[in-house]
Amino acid sequence: MAPRVRLAVSLVPSVEEELRLLFDVRPELDGADGAVTMPTDRVDAEFFDRAGPQLRVVAQHAVGLDNVDLAEAARRGVTVSNTPGVLTDATAELTIALMLDLLRRVTEGDRLIRRGEPWRLQPTFMLGTGLKGKTLGVVGMGRIGSEVARLGEAHGMRIRPMRGLDGVEEVDVLTLHCPLNEETRHLVDAAGLARMKPAAVLVNAARGAVVHEAALADALRRGVIAGAALDVFEREPEVEEALLELENVVLCPHLGSATLEAREAMGRLCLDALRRELL
Ligand code: 8YV
Repeated sequence: MAPRVRLAVSLVPSVEEELRLLFDVRPELDGADGAVTMPTDRVDAEFFDRAGPQLRVVAQHAVGLDNVDLAEAARRGVTVSNTPGVLTDATAELTIALMLDLLRRVTEGDRLIRRGEPWRLQPTFMLGTGLKGKTLGVVGMGRIGSEVARLGEAHGMRIRPMRGLDGVEEVDVLTLHCPLNEETRHLVDAAGLARMKPAAVLVNAARGAVVHEAALADALRRGVIAGAALDVFEREPEVEEALLELENVVLCPHLGSATLEAREAMGRLCLDALRRELL
């Protein structure tokens, strides 16, 4: 009998087809030998209890493992894999896309047109800000942060690698690429935001809870900082309601790694881990 794998989402078709050829793939967790998990799954003692003692491997379809209790997995002898490296370019590219969208007001302009508001070309209409010469503060200089820095540099930005919010006063664009853990939870809070330049903006394609979302909404409403572009949220898929009212915010539904190339490679890494442990 083929080992059972719990899959509760759709994978890229080529990967899912292969998975289904090799395993007994089901949406239920109980009785599973392996599980494909997403950042939105809470992989904790309760998860392992529900699966049962036969569970041998958790293949996390993400690089971030903040939703996985690694100590509990180790205690139970469950192997945990993730998908580092193959989503670096996709996530870094989306970060730059969000930065440009926010600073050049692309989505804001799109909303204006769709509302049917009258507009005409004139020298002061919807002025934005360029990237060249601006200081890009990068929190978390791992694979993704380093690639964002390289792309930022290519746009003429000055790169400032940051430990925590060290030197945030000097930054024009603050971009977050650290993992979520007890040290980084709410790293960007009301006090941190208050230290930023009023013209500065925040980009978050890391984890929602690195930012205190309610404090951010308040800071944006009061003009403490000029804008934010967010790919991730504290309680996904929920978004702090106050953010929905603000024009100086770009909202993106967690698309950091959402390219066909990245998702195919991520799926393959999950498949490899399941194969290694179960076949
Ligand atoms: C997920 C992510 O991979 O890799 C991460 O840590 O946050 C995402 O890009 C994505 O949600 C698909 O699982």
